Amino acid sequence: QTERLALKDRARQLLQERQAVLVAHYYVDGDLQDLALETGGCVSDSLEMARFGRDHHAQTLVVAGVRFMGESAKILSPHKTVLMPDLDATCSLDLGCPTDDFSAFCDAHPDRTVVVYANTSAAVKARADWMVTSSCALAIVSHLHAQGQKILWAPDRHLGRYIQEQTGADMLMWNGACIVHDEFKGGELELLRQEHPLAKVLVHPESPAAVVAQADVVGSTAALLKAVMELDAPEFIVATDNGMFHRMRQAAPNKVLLEAPTAGNSATCKSCAHCPWMAMNGLQGLVDCLERGTGAVEIDPALGRTALRCIDRMLGFTA
Ligand code: 13P
Ligand code: SF4
Repeated sequence: QTERLALKDRARQLLQERQAVLVAHYYVDGDLQDLALETGGCVSDSLEMARFGRDHHAQTLVVAGVRFMGESAKILSPHKTVLMPDLDATCSLDLGCPTDDFSAFCDAHPDRTVVVYANTSAAVKARADWMVTSSCALAIVSHLHAQGQKILWAPDRHLGRYIQEQTGADMLMWNGACIVHDEFKGGELELLRQEHPLAKVLVHPESPAAVVAQADVVGSTAALLKAVMELDAPEFIVATDNGMFHRMRQAAPNKVLLEAPTAGNSATCKSCAHCPWMAMNGLQGLVDCLERGTGAVEIDPALGRTALRCIDRMLGFTA
């Protein structure tokens, strides 16, 4: 506890000395989220992290999240220094969509508009027409569908299926998944709902269809937080990474929050629903990157300029 507080103080001091701002995702360690809010940074979903980092005047951004979030920040602000507590923090969606295979997929379907999820590498984004996050995917694909465009979608198959069902768009899908959300189980969720009949069910759209089908609200991490704050219900069953509970509990201290069941957490494992890569972000890593300048995100400038097009298009659409 003492060590934790000392590290937090040191990080606060370094952020000030380096005139850096901390941009954190809801899934990272609660101390990092608190520190971001206390020091004028932000805690948000991946869309707002990108926008906040781009618009903030600080010349050093510290991105506490996973690699694609740091890369998006660097692509949007190539002149800024972008640091991460751990550069090895990746994402199963990014890992499951290698550039060469994805490029070949695009080459095979030149008639399709390429829409990629934010959770991809800079090189994959460089092949895309649009980038989307879970908070704007529905609106952007609806817009493209209304224009008669056929879509090539990558990499999350669950989010893709959900968007396809909602919009009726013609979508050819890559077969990727998030290792965290893919574990939520529809059958066990039904049982938990029977035990908690007043609970509202909040689901991130990276979850399987059987889970999404039981949702009262399907949305990005920011949308799920808003639902906990605004919906008039005493209990919520939440199907997303359990790092999210930190902010939810702060924002709605009187509500009861239950983890949606995964294969493991129904019996023994109480924290299966936590992204191992988000968990790589800690106070020590934050202090180290600020103290030594380690964890700097570098993107080849030409690649960055190409990848920027699809990110800019999304930010322009959602402005
Ligand atoms: P959000 O954009 O909803 O924050 O999701 C990012 C993510 O990685 C979810 O697993
Ligand atoms: Fe990727 Fe899933 Fe982790 Fe989000 S929770 S960063 S989608 S592996």
